[in-house]
Amino acid sequence: MDTDALVTGLRRRGSLKWTRHPDALGAFVAESDLGTAPAVVQALQDAVARGLFGYLPDWLADDMARATAGFLRDRHGWEVPPQRVRPLPDVLAALSAAITYLSRPGSPVVLPTPAYMPFLEVPPALGREVLEVPMARDGGRYVYDLDALDAAFRAGGHLLVLCNPHNPVGRVLEPAEMRAVAAVVDRHGGRVFSDEVHAPLVFPGHRHVPYASLDDTTAAQAITATSASKAWDLAGLKCAQLVLSNDADARLWAEVGYPVEHGCSTPGAVANTAAYRDGVPWLDDTIAVLDGNRRLLADLVAEHLPAARYRPPEGTYLAWLELGVPGAGDLLLERAGVAVVDGARCGAAGRGSVRMDLATPAPVLTAIVERMGAALR
Ligand SMILES: Cc1ncc(COP(=O)(O)O)c(C=O)c1O
Repeated sequence: MDTDALVTGLRRRGSLKWTRHPDALGAFVAESDLGTAPAVVQALQDAVARGLFGYLPDWLADDMARATAGFLRDRHGWEVPPQRVRPLPDVLAALSAAITYLSRPGSPVVLPTPAYMPFLEVPPALGREVLEVPMARDGGRYVYDLDALDAAFRAGGHLLVLCNPHNPVGRVLEPAEMRAVAAVVDRHGGRVFSDEVHAPLVFPGHRHVPYASLDDTTAAQAITATSASKAWDLAGLKCAQLVLSNDADARLWAEVGYPVEHGCSTPGAVANTAAYRDGVPWLDDTIAVLDGNRRLLADLVAEHLPAARYRPPEGTYLAWLELGVPGAGDLLLERAGVAVVDGARCGAAGRGSVRMDLATPAPVLTAIVERMGAALR
């Protein structure tokens, strides 16, 4: 199919990515154009046929907890009792709850940058300061800057937002890196919000290890959020999972969690359960397509954006392009007709870069980079 026909079909689907900028190619929001698993569609159709539209029933919350625990065990080797998996509307609700209930009252939030954009917005909305901690480089790879993290905790920070796999730079953390972070957090009695929403999306050669699964120290520090929403493209269904990895958090959550859990949608729980339980073969096929795309993007960048720096992501379907062009987001929208995220929205460390979504058919990805190249030449 040619690119125009593909784009017409995507716009007709009506997603945010393809309707906010009707005259531009959409690559700004983390939605996948690769659809979802047939098992998910089937489960949703069954729920529609039954009229399962009321509040989240206990049996479904329990079933989703079992399906999530099964996925965490089989995919990531993490044994979690299903009772420790709680329903949520979304990952950002978990971040708000972690700030409100787990971090020292009034304390700043420690945020490695570049970061997922709302991580810079949620803490101030709750009256909290964000301490941006620019990531460091090890060769071409982004890594956490342990000394800078230590300084942020010394400056009063208490909750660290860890994002793994990392949006936007695509790193999948290795256990040794996480242990080094854990030592810094431990030294200051800090806490960790571990955002693992991209965990199902890890490319060959890398392995997702949940932070809380490492040892007793990380289990005590962490509260973990995940969802099928990114990998199976279900974000609009409003459902995620909180994983409690220590007794104290489980006790606290039993007291304060209900208003947050109340936001979890019933169709979302149906879809997440089906994804984790029956959507894994589809996921593996989709990862193969995305693996092709992240490599294709390397060729396209070399050809059309030779001055840019791009390292294929280890996980996620997001790409981080260091263009060295401040304000590139607006410029590309105006001159190239391409909608990406300006890196400055990911924190000061992102200035000059852009974040783009590579979960799209290869001809569309190609057209996006060709247009960017023509505009920046
Ligand atoms: C790292 C990360 N965290 C959280 C979210 C938002 O998730 P939710 O819609 O569940 O709040 C996204 C969405 O792209 C994300 O990439």
